[in-house]
Amino acid sequence: MIWARWRRDATNNPQDGLDPFADLIEEAPVMALLLDRENRLLAANEAAREFFQIDAGRLPQGLLQATREGRLAEVLRAGRPESEVRLTHHRRIVATRLVPGPRPGETLLFASDVTELRRLERVRQEFVANLSHELKTPLTSLRLAAESLADDPPQVARRRFADRILKDTDQLTAIVNNLRQLAEIERGDGELTIGRFALAELLQEVIQRSRPEQPIDLTIPGALHIEADRSKLAQALANLLDNAAKFSPPGAGIDIQARSAQGEVRITVRDHGPGISPEHWERVFERFYKVDQARSRASGGSGLGLAIAKHLLLVQGGRIWTEAEPDGGQRFTIALPEHRAGSVTQAS
Ligand SMILES: Nc1ncnc2c1ncn2[C@@H]1O[C@H](COP(=O)(O)OP(=O)(O)O)[C@@H](O)[C@H]1O
Ligand SMILES: [Mg+2]
Repeated sequence: MIWARWRRDATNNPQDGLDPFADLIEEAPVMALLLDRENRLLAANEAAREFFQIDAGRLPQGLLQATREGRLAEVLRAGRPESEVRLTHHRRIVATRLVPGPRPGETLLFASDVTELRRLERVRQEFVANLSHELKTPLTSLRLAAESLADDPPQVARRRFADRILKDTDQLTAIVNNLRQLAEIERGDGELTIGRFALAELLQEVIQRSRPEQPIDLTIPGALHIEADRSKLAQALANLLDNAAKFSPPGAGIDIQARSAQGEVRITVRDHGPGISPEHWERVFERFYKVDQARSRASGGSGLGLAIAKHLLLVQGGRIWTEAEPDGGQRFTIALPEHRAGSVTQAS
């Protein structure tokens, strides 16, 4: 307990070594660094020692040597009571607070890691910005169509504007439904219902419901069973099939294959469309991410389908990824554990 030892040394009074306040600082969740007039580190509590990997035996030591962070010395030099610094060596953002130390000339520097907090803030801001952007297009189009109708146009044009309005409201509804679905999965309150079922049957159902224009080639061992959340898997597959149909020409076929490999069931949905260039392969699973804005919008997409599919799989221990087919087209693969330990039905 070097904090207590410092107290003892500082006061030359062994009784003070048991100062309850010093012990509190030692175990506080916030990092605490005690510095002297020359910016030498005299003591560091447990959180700080762990974060900066400070060797207590080497104290006192220059702040820079002890922490390898020049930005902390800048904070001290500037003497600003509160600031936020980006640590270059540790690649973290910390909020700092300076208070006078227990003896004249000493400074106590408190620091807390706010990296995750800032990241979440950024995610939220981006989400709102993306969502507003998504809503703007159908709303603008809706308003235009309504204005045109208000001008009392001839019968044929009326029909066209009404169709426009229906399409825009459908798109808005789809966005709202997707958002709700995403929020539900993220909250994790949608119960996970793991059951054992034949995969061929499920795939037939998904194809029946999606009814893509393209011919579907389904290759699946009839006996292949899987333990998974049936409706969540169905939704994820439907989203993949929807994309394969949407982003490839009507005549080109879609191949769906399933097989078991290394304790996993792998399902691939492959199209014969233009594919996706590799730099987008990870990002297409992000919310609102679209490779081609105009193309996706024209087909009524909001860039949420794959983000939803990914979540639906993650919550049941699965994975999803995409890659190119050597002879053209894009392939999406879903992998789920074939068997699960424990009960058949479980809550998330
Ligand atoms: N099979 C595919 N072929 C080509 N591009 C695809 C395919 N699937 C997805 N993408 C790209 O990934 C983006 C994200 O897909 P998704 O999340 O389903 O959004 P949306 O379908 O609403 O556009 C799409 O906008 C598209 O650019
Ligand atoms: Mg989609």
